[in-house]
Amino acid sequence: MLSLCDKLYQQLNVKDLLEDPLGDLEELRAVLQEVSEVNAYYVRQFLSARLVDQCDEDWVYEMYVDLLSSRPLRPDEPNVLVYRLGDTVRVSIREMPRLISAVNTTGFRTWRAATSLSKLLVEHRELTRGKTVLELGCGTGLSSITVGVLDEYKKLYVTDGDTGILSEVTTPNLSLNKVERDVQCQRLVWASEDRVPGDIDVVVGADITYDPTVFPELCTCLDECLQQPKCQCAILACTERNRETVHELHSQCAQHSLSMECLQAEDAVKIYKITRRPAAPSA
Ligand SMILES: C[S@@+](CC[C@H](N)C(=O)[O-])C[C@H]1O[C@@H](n2cnc3c(N)ncnc32)[C@H](O)[C@@H]1O
Repeated sequence: MLSLCDKLYQQLNVKDLLEDPLGDLEELRAVLQEVSEVNAYYVRQFLSARLVDQCDEDWVYEMYVDLLSSRPLRPDEPNVLVYRLGDTVRVSIREMPRLISAVNTTGFRTWRAATSLSKLLVEHRELTRGKTVLELGCGTGLSSITVGVLDEYKKLYVTDGDTGILSEVTTPNLSLNKVERDVQCQRLVWASEDRVPGDIDVVVGADITYDPTVFPELCTCLDECLQQPKCQCAILACTERNRETVHELHSQCAQHSLSMECLQAEDAVKIYKITRRPAAPSA
């Protein structure tokens, strides 16, 4: 369950924050101050909707007046969202959440499945401890950066099919969070001439199962990953948006002899452990 401060750090829609308890006002003030440095207009909206008429603290009015001249960020203007993933893990992600329609790609914002996967990776550090980790379709990079911030990995391959995303958001986000040790950020288009690294132990991916037309390529790539000598499993966080897509994913995995075990189901996000079915013994 996210606290109001967690939601403000992630700049969730103000309309969805109208019922949350305000909690400690000093903490709230500090969070709003921090968020206003990257998105003043968002904080102004929140103050107007939640605090100006309901709270008589002087700082509320002072902050609101200071922000009156703020304007909404343009779709191509970067924003920095903060994800608190457990008591001590904090990841900052520079993203352009409203850029999807403009450039026809989905990787410029962080998707909900990535926050679920990142929390699971924090709660189950053994999944990546001492391991060489490959992320597929990393987008802004939250899942890889979470593994990076935990700093127990052996090596990280952070990949996406879109080189624009890798250079404009993923690489700057790795630097922003100081994840620079043994990290390779590179293009990996599924089932293409791009080769899967041979030394991987585990694969992770978040919200890469939204388009059924690319499932054959994705499953071919997962199969290739799982055929690497040390690769044990892939952990995929999938936002299940409709029944047909879910059915098609299960069917494509079965056709590629991949087993899916559901590790966690939270609202529409399911996290699956994918392994390769052992080949049937020959007669
Ligand atoms: C919905 S975004 C998810 C991004 C990130 N994992 C997250 O959850 O925030 C899907 C990502 O998969 C990448 N992608 C889509 N098709 C791909 C393909 N065929 N090969 C490699 N990456 C692909 C996109 O570029 C995009 O960054």
